Amino acid sequence: MVTIKVRQNGPYRVEGDDVTVVDWNGVEYPIIKQPIALCRCGGSTTKPFCDGTHSKIGFAAAEAAVPASDDKPAT
Ligand code: FES
Repeated sequence: MVTIKVRQNGPYRVEGDDVTVVDWNGVEYPIIKQPIALCRCGGSTTKPFCDGTHSKIGFAAAEAAVPASDDKPAT
């Protein structure tokens, strides 16, 4: 199972035993360390991986998971 966790104001953290990251040609990126952190801010110099630049540039993301409308309590 693969889990992608959206870090608050940070990268996508990808956790799993069998994860590969490929480019648009299907070529695999070498995975240096686990878990994988994929850049979400656009500022990384090692895209598609996070290099910590999000902290230096003050990246702030507002999105968060919200329950689907079916999950809302009845009023
Ligand atoms: S999210 Fe970390 S450098 Fe972009």
